[in-house]
Amino acid sequence: MYVAQPIEWTEKGVVMLDQRRLPAQEISYTYTDYLGVAKAIREMVIRGAPAIGVAAAMGVAIGVQKSTATSLEALKPEFAHICDTLAETRPTAVDLFWALERMKRRFAELVQSSAPLAAIREALVAEAKLVHQEKKATDEAIGRFGAEFMPQEGQVMTQCNAGALATGGIGTALGVIRVAFEQGKKLHVLVPETRPYLQGARLTAWELHRGGIPLTLITDNMVGHFLKTGKVGAIVTGADRIAANGDTANKIGTYQIAVLAKENNVPFYIAAPVSTFDLSIAGGEQIPIEERAAAEVTHIQGVRIAPDVHAAHPAFDVTPHRYIRAIFTERGVATAPYTESLKKLAAAPALGAGR
Ligand code: MRU
Repeated sequence: MYVAQPIEWTEKGVVMLDQRRLPAQEISYTYTDYLGVAKAIREMVIRGAPAIGVAAAMGVAIGVQKSTATSLEALKPEFAHICDTLAETRPTAVDLFWALERMKRRFAELVQSSAPLAAIREALVAEAKLVHQEKKATDEAIGRFGAEFMPQEGQVMTQCNAGALATGGIGTALGVIRVAFEQGKKLHVLVPETRPYLQGARLTAWELHRGGIPLTLITDNMVGHFLKTGKVGAIVTGADRIAANGDTANKIGTYQIAVLAKENNVPFYIAAPVSTFDLSIAGGEQIPIEERAAAEVTHIQGVRIAPDVHAAHPAFDVTPHRYIRAIFTERGVATAPYTESLKKLAAAPALGAGR
C-alpha cells in the first residue's frame, strides 16, 4: 500500500515534501542548512508531531555537518544555538523537544568520549537517521495495538492528519486504520476537513485515497450529525502532547469531537508514541497552545474569504482525559487511571531499534 515520504536524509541534504502544496502539487525541496529546516517547520512544509521531531533531529545533524567550526570549543556554542533555533519553531508538539534532547544527549556522549570533530559530525547524522527509522517501527507497533480496537466493519472517524505525512512512518491514527484495513477489517473513514489549515481535506483525504482506503470527506460542522446518525464505530486521532493525567493536546477541533463522541457513546481513542508524553506537566492546562496567523483563518490558499476583521487561530485544543477511552502507544495501550498507566508505559523498555 502507498506510504507517503514526507522527509528523507540524503547526501545532498534534508529532502522534504512540501505539504502546503498537497494535494495539487507534489513538490520536494532539499534543505542544506539548519535555518532552512527551522523555517520549513515553522511554515508547515513539514508538520505533524513525530515528523516535526524527525525534521528537528535532521536539522541539528545538518547544522553540525555544515558548521565551519574547527575545534570542539567552537562547535559547542554553535550546537547550542542550532538547538535553540529549532526549539523556537513550534511550541505545542513535544516530539520536537524530545528529538532535540536526544540529539543533545548524543552530542554530550560524543564530547565525553573525546571523539574527533569528523566523528561527531558523522555520529549526529547517524542519530538523526535512527530517529527517523525508529518512527517507522513505532508507528507499526502503535498500529498493531490500536487495530484490535477498531470495529470489524463500518465507519471510523479521525481528525487532522496523523498519517505517514505526519510521522515519516505509516502514521499513528492513520497507521491504526491502515493496519486494521490490511487485517481485513472493512473500514470506511469519515474525514473532517479540519479548518483552518485543512489537513483533513488536503492531506488525510489524499493519503487514504492513494492508499485505497475508502473515505468520506465531511466539513467540521458535520461531525455531530454523523456521530449521532452515522453508525460510527470508533474515533482515533493523533496527539501533540499528552500530560501526566492523560489530558491530550491535538489539532483544534479534537476536543469538540471527543465531547460529541461521549454524548453519542462512540469510543474516542488517541494513537501516539511515548515520545509525545510530557509527564513533567500534571494536566492539560499547562500545555502551551500555538497561536498561528489570523490570515490562515481569513484566507484559504491565499484567497480572502472574510472581511479584514480580527480572527483567532489557536492551532490546538486540549481534550480532558475523561473523554479518552484508551491511548495506543508502541509499548502497549494505556487506559484510565492515566496517571498510573502512562507512567508505567514511560518506564517500559523502548522498542528494539536502538543504537
Ligand atoms: O499543525 P499540525 O498539522 O502540525 O498538527 C498536527 C496534528 O495535530 C496531528 O494530529 C498530531 O501532530 C499528531 S501527528 C501523528
